[in-house]
Amino acid sequence: MKRISVLIVDDISDTRDSIRRLLQFEDDIEVMGEVGSGSEAILFAERNPPDIILMDVNMPEMDGIRTTELLAQRAPECSVVLMSVQGEPAYLRRAMMAGAREYIVKPFTGDELATIIAKVHEMDQRKREVVGKQINEINDPKKLDSQIISFFSTKGGVGNTTLATNLAVQLASSGKWRVLLIDLNLQFGDVAVFLNLIPKRSIADLTQNGTIKYSEIQSYFLTHSSGLQVLAAPTRPEYAELVTAEHVEQILSEVKGKFDFIICDNVSRFDDVSLVSFDASTQIWLVLAMDVPTLKNAKLSLEVIEGLHHTSKVQVVLNRSSKEMGMDPQDVEKSLNIKISHEIMSDGRALVAALNQGVPFVLSHPLSKASEGIRKMASKLISSQGVEAKNEVEEQGHTIPKPLKGLRRVFGF
Ligand SMILES: Nc1ncnc2c1ncn2[C@@H]1O[C@H](COP(=O)(O)OP(=O)(O)OP(=O)(O)O)[C@@H](O)[C@H]1O
Ligand SMILES: [Mg+2]
Repeated sequence: MKRISVLIVDDISDTRDSIRRLLQFEDDIEVMGEVGSGSEAILFAERNPPDIILMDVNMPEMDGIRTTELLAQRAPECSVVLMSVQGEPAYLRRAMMAGAREYIVKPFTGDELATIIAKVHEMDQRKREVVGKQINEINDPKKLDSQIISFFSTKGGVGNTTLATNLAVQLASSGKWRVLLIDLNLQFGDVAVFLNLIPKRSIADLTQNGTIKYSEIQSYFLTHSSGLQVLAAPTRPEYAELVTAEHVEQILSEVKGKFDFIICDNVSRFDDVSLVSFDASTQIWLVLAMDVPTLKNAKLSLEVIEGLHHTSKVQVVLNRSSKEMGMDPQDVEKSLNIKISHEIMSDGRALVAALNQGVPFVLSHPLSKASEGIRKMASKLISSQGVEAKNEVEEQGHTIPKPLKGLRRVFGF
């Protein structure tokens, strides 16, 4: 049987020696190291995590409680047992809040220490098994019939990111669906800002990693409190060049089947990246606002999409709808000769407040008109799943000529 590995952390070397002596005859415990400070303990545990860290509380520079707090983030797999002469309840509570699993008051006997180590290890081992099983299920989920939705707009600022993030959060927060949001606005993507997430690693870092496989991709996901997984855009515009259309194609093919819904926030431009995203998508949601220039460009976009043989994937989303715009949704439908599938009302107050809090409005302002629109959008999407799958089959039935790169395949130049 594998022995329980232990790291001793105490600034006094005599104390470390005596703890080591107390444990030397315990067959199932192995002292794998000893260090004299909190910072050394963190370095040690990050490189070679022991099962149990025996941690002195009173140490100069960084005390045992602060070290325990940091270990909870830097080496969460290790269980900390604090050792101190102080045994008051308030102190104990601080230790537990910091993430310690147990607390032993000095002086203690070898038996007392060994019993605590064995008990903590057994409890945490059981927890690790359950969490490990859950992680395996996440890493290797059954193949899902993914809906891949590309949000696209004909003009910047019409609300692509606002709608993509809120729809994704709405779906994820139900707890029923596995949802991934990919920010494909590679130069100025702001999905992470909308969700108040810090993009430590982005899609650009991922592409620098050699082969792009799902096992690798998932370590680049950020997790939102709703359960939504996010693949963030590069943190600086110049890093966008590190991500090619081929990378995006590969990422989409790897994540397909791992989520119920994969939502892509595209840049408002027909470029190689948005085209591969359209190819991979089961649906293209064209976001419009009620103004003449947007409608003119929408008409042109629909023509291009037709040339790409993707018309059956298109759904029109009318955003910032309002009676005060001098036109109504019927005018939009007539001028584009296409039905509006989703309509979101203009709701500046709720949206600006939500954006400034970094909370999607469906969570911060669930009663707003815009949230009501997103909920309708989500339920329509869920109930239409079967229909969309059929469209995809029909699309595949087309004899599409061998794809030329970019828009050349529409215009043949
Ligand atoms: N329904 C709405 N009501 C009121 N304001 C809205 C609505 N939808 C979006 N907005 C506001 O419009 C602005 C632009 O939205 P957003 O950033 O989502 O657009 P975008 O199409 O993603 O822009 P970009 O082209 O820069 O990526 C934001 O300030 C947002 O709050
Ligand atoms: Mg945007």
